[in-house]
Amino acid sequence: MASSSSSLRIGVVGYGHLGQYLVERILKDGAAHGLSLAFVWNRNTDKLKGLVPDELILGDLSSFAERRCHVIVEVCHPHIVKEFGLHFLSHSHFMVGSPSALSDSDLNLKLRQAAQQYGRTLYVPSGALWGGQDIQRLNDSGALKALFIRMSKHPSCFRLTGDVLSDWTEGEGRRVLFRGSVAELCPLAPNNVNTMAAAAVAAGSLGFTGVQGEIVSDTVLSDYHVVEVEVTGPNGFSVRTVRRNPAKLGAVTGSATYNSFWNSLLGESCSHSKYCIHFPEVKLHDVKTNQINCNLWCRLYRSWKKILNVFTKKTNMILHGLKLQSIQFYAFNVHK
Ligand SMILES: NC(=O)c1ccc[n+]([C@@H]2O[C@H](COP(=O)([O-])OP(=O)(O)OC[C@H]3O[C@@H](n4cnc5c(N)ncnc54)[C@H](O)[C@@H]3O)[C@@H](O)[C@H]2O)c1
Repeated sequence: MASSSSSLRIGVVGYGHLGQYLVERILKDGAAHGLSLAFVWNRNTDKLKGLVPDELILGDLSSFAERRCHVIVEVCHPHIVKEFGLHFLSHSHFMVGSPSALSDSDLNLKLRQAAQQYGRTLYVPSGALWGGQDIQRLNDSGALKALFIRMSKHPSCFRLTGDVLSDWTEGEGRRVLFRGSVAELCPLAPNNVNTMAAAAVAAGSLGFTGVQGEIVSDTVLSDYHVVEVEVTGPNGFSVRTVRRNPAKLGAVTGSATYNSFWNSLLGESCSHSKYCIHFPEVKLHDVKTNQINCNLWCRLYRSWKKILNVFTKKTNMILHGLKLQSIQFYAFNVHK
């Protein structure tokens, strides 16, 4: 694929369901959105042959830097986030498709520090989480008191590290597999609770240990996954959402999540929303009025592409009369 020098070069790490979808979309529609494919890596290279142009196949992930990506998107496994996340951030912005990896507090801190050190952004796509931006706003205002997420799926859709589900039988109905903090749940079901992990990122004041979750196996759910989110604020304020995400039997990822990932990559939701991407950590210092202004930033920079272009430069820039006071290192892409 010809890539224009001005396009954002994307490296895709993982060629499972999500990776295949993203690669296909970038090859088909990327040029129209200013995106081009820099490489695709999969632990089994044979899976890529004939489907991805040879020159875009990366054989050895350790040599990713040679492909000079603007953004690396991980869509395979939290292990890869742990093994390569810091390296990725030393060269590129990094979208963590498996944010359950961030439940490791040491890794989480190191990734944030690396992003800050190298002036890169660690992106967490909203995936199957509905209302993440609202959760984040409540969190940032100091009003978020509690957050609970229940994820229910057909037993064939779970990939658990233990054998708690090894004896399931069709027709057995509903079984609560685990209830506890998201920090405890992530190692048990690293591929299944990324939505909870994204919520724990949005709810930074509660974090992975404060946000509570529950995973439920239900043989009735042969056509969709269910994500229930309960947000509690002050003085009796609460919001409860239920999201049904159509999904095939055995699929880790619900079908609506594919498009959600693509939108996270494009920042396309910006044109439909007052706020495009909310930056919890970004602080803009308006030199004239001496005010911190986050919302203005979001209005000014409505596309992720532009944001990335800006962040490839250094801090302390004057932008439209605003002085960038601190570089953000943790962004949360809005669900659409
Ligand atoms: N953020 C979210 O809301 C969200 C939603 C759905 C899926 N996910 C995550 O995104 C990732 C990809 O999802 P998917 O539906 O494409 O899954 P998938 O099972 O279809 O594909 C995963 C791919 O990664 C490879 N892989 C598995 N373990 C690996 C390892 N240890 N090292 C290297 N490669 C490995 C597999 O061979 C496969 O090619 C998963 O981690 C999944 O949990 C996140």
